Amino acid sequence: LFSATRVQAVSTMAADEEVVGTVKDQLAKLFEESLRVTVPDQTDTDPLIAACNPRFGDYQCNNAMSLWTKIKGTGSAFTGPQPVGQAIMTNLPRSEMIESCSIAGPGFVNVKLSRQWIAKSIQKMLIKGIETWSPKLRVKRAVVDFSSPNIAKEMHVGHLRSTIIGDTLARMLEFSNVEVLRRNHVGDWGTQVSISVCLRVCMHIYVSVYLFVSSDLACINIIAFYKASKQRFDSDPGFKERAQQAVVSLQGGKEKYRKAWSQICEISRKGYEKVYQRLGIVLEEKGESFYNPYIPGVLEELGKKGLIEESEGARVIFIEGKKYPFIVVKSDGGFNYASTDLTALWYRLNEEKAEWMIYVTDVGQREHFEMLFTAAKRAGWLPPGDNSYPKANHVGFGLVLGEDGKRFRTRSTEVVKLVDLLDEAKSRCKAALVERGKAEEWTEEELEQTAEAVGYGAVKYADLKNNRLTNYTFNFDQMLNDQGNTAVYLLYAHARICSIIRKSGKDVEELKKTGALVLEHPNERALGLHLLQFAEIVEEACTNLLPNVLCEYLYNLSGHFTTFYTNCQTSPNRWCCQSLVAFVLWGQRRRQADSCCVKRLQRSCGNASIYLV
Ligand code: ARG
Repeated sequence: LFSATRVQAVSTMAADEEVVGTVKDQLAKLFEESLRVTVPDQTDTDPLIAACNPRFGDYQCNNAMSLWTKIKGTGSAFTGPQPVGQAIMTNLPRSEMIESCSIAGPGFVNVKLSRQWIAKSIQKMLIKGIETWSPKLRVKRAVVDFSSPNIAKEMHVGHLRSTIIGDTLARMLEFSNVEVLRRNHVGDWGTQVSISVCLRVCMHIYVSVYLFVSSDLACINIIAFYKASKQRFDSDPGFKERAQQAVVSLQGGKEKYRKAWSQICEISRKGYEKVYQRLGIVLEEKGESFYNPYIPGVLEELGKKGLIEESEGARVIFIEGKKYPFIVVKSDGGFNYASTDLTALWYRLNEEKAEWMIYVTDVGQREHFEMLFTAAKRAGWLPPGDNSYPKANHVGFGLVLGEDGKRFRTRSTEVVKLVDLLDEAKSRCKAALVERGKAEEWTEEELEQTAEAVGYGAVKYADLKNNRLTNYTFNFDQMLNDQGNTAVYLLYAHARICSIIRKSGKDVEELKKTGALVLEHPNERALGLHLLQFAEIVEEACTNLLPNVLCEYLYNLSGHFTTFYTNCQTSPNRWCCQSLVAFVLWGQRRRQADSCCVKRLQRSCGNASIYLV
């Protein structure tokens, strides 16, 4: 098994070859070659490469331990994990990537990358653009189901989380060349809709002359309207019955009900589109009602496959290990959230040919999605297990808490309206800018745009930087602080870099053509390496659906930059590194969602770093 012969000069990276894949991928290729020589019988062993403690090196290969567990007692010539690690190191092909290797503990192979290779690679990154480093994911098309508010109800702070996290995941996947179907699965078909529709129809009948002569609902506060409907629903049994009938009439396509429904949808839609516009978010609405015509066919298929059973008058799918079954047809014969979601999943797989379905909602819906995915696996729509495609994931998130540690509410214990939060973030930023004398320096339009970029960016980043599963406390003072891990700090770092580049009088395009980068100072090397790790960070964030991984990267990047800037005053690389950092912080702008900020960015500031996140 053991071969000590060194494989000569089979570096996978020819000197002038294009940079392919992440640093991790490139190292993995080298280690794969070594593994094939070291343990030729273990052909299914994939190299395990991870970034490591900088005291030992830059990366580590962690295969020795698990290999030893597999091969010990099988007559192998190895005497323990350390010699396995040693052999992996010895058999590593020579490569310009690697400066040195060492063995630690029970066979970890530590790798120190070569400075020249890092320098050459970041120069390539600068010249060819950061897009050429986008990670290669295994999927071509994904659905991200996010935001998804409910018609006739206010978008609240929970929808803010779904909107921000979902949009970020979509952007990260798009950066990784995945086609993303951004789906707004609005609740436009449930009980709350029929309640409003009923009141609307009742009003039409009883008070149309008085209030709605024009049948134009636009003047109505849709939320107040829903509240009034709900109150009546709860207190008036006759109304409740009519509301339940309204669902039937609506689903049966009765003109009067259809019209009332579409008016209510339209008003709600106008409300949340304003929010999307403010946040630069693109979404395509395919609400619950869209899937309604497909439900009978899908349920028939599931019935034929033997998944659906009768239980207390309802039709259900029993899921192993769950206390309650997944109800797909209610006892009154109506469809529900589950029937719609089963159908939507079917539609996304079969009609839209998506390979990855991602659902962004609060963790409270975990059980629903677990049942949904299990049902889909039992139907044979999704493969068993969680690692192969097509795949479905629930991206859950925690609550937003107020200062008191309780669910975030207004003083009058109402849900916090998303629009109010955005307004306040913006007005606080504007006040801070005015205080700094910007009102004299800038036009009103510039002031407004900057306040929006910083204010909305701060709200987004404060949410994204936490692991999404944890609850987070909403605090304006913290998120608008210009020190610490905030969007304001990142924007400041970016603006500062842009301003340095501007004042240097150097042209970045010229820099691309001239000279080779040399990384001398340790801080300079650390910054270069961090820049190179961008692609694998995006890959990790996409694979685990964790935007906070990317936030942490950006925050550390700003830190590495500051150290480099402070300690390498005379480095010939200053301009080159600065422009690259600016570039990464700036992020991708293939879509022009935030083009209104470009003007401001070019001057000194903007929300570019928040583009990816
Ligand atoms: N409308 C739902 C809510 O506000 C979220 C929908 C999420 N998407 C889905 N396919 N179930 O909680």
